[in-house]
Amino acid sequence: MKNKRTSLVHLIYFSRLTISNEPALRAKQIGDITRQAQKKNEFAVITSFLIIDQNFAIQVVEGERQSVNETFQRIAADSRHRDVQIVEWREIAKREFVSSFTTVSRTAANEPHFAKSGLLPMLQRGTPKSSAIHGLAVTLQAESMAKQGIDHLFV
Ligand SMILES: Cc1cc2nc3c(=O)[nH]c(=O)nc-3n(C[C@H](O)[C@H](O)[C@H](O)COP(=O)(O)O)c2cc1C
Repeated sequence: MKNKRTSLVHLIYFSRLTISNEPALRAKQIGDITRQAQKKNEFAVITSFLIIDQNFAIQVVEGERQSVNETFQRIAADSRHRDVQIVEWREIAKREFVSSFTTVSRTAANEPHFAKSGLLPMLQRGTPKSSAIHGLAVTLQAESMAKQGIDHLFV
């Protein structure tokens, strides 16, 4: 009875955002995506982390196989981004992200993490490594949780 858990997978993709570059409009558009995605992901028991760097979107989506498939169909069909490419799709032993949908954009404050990951040049070449994406997402999540004072729950 121990292995009753259904199979968990994660899917990592990257794409090019087609949303505005004007800061206020962009923030509103990201807010709209966030609200829609949060609601859907909570319902589908999906956890995810979205990184935004310039006009690149990079997302890790975790959950039960069928839910991840259905979620990705919706994501891929969204006209707010284009050139959606899967980087990795595989079974995982456990989830690594705690919320249904979190998004972090590159800012002056988190810039060192982005720079260290080396992700942007890989995205520009069109060949981002899943390990670089995964590592940056985990680091950004840890930092965001530390700021909220809840990091002790996840040691
Ligand atoms: C960068 C990006 C990330 C997204 N992430 C998710 C997601 O994690 N879950 C999800 O259901 N939809 C996600 N979406 C898709 C949209 O929010 C979509 O509008 C929403 O799923 C509603 O779909 P529907 O109008 O077909 O019902 C994402 C879209 C973009 C552009």
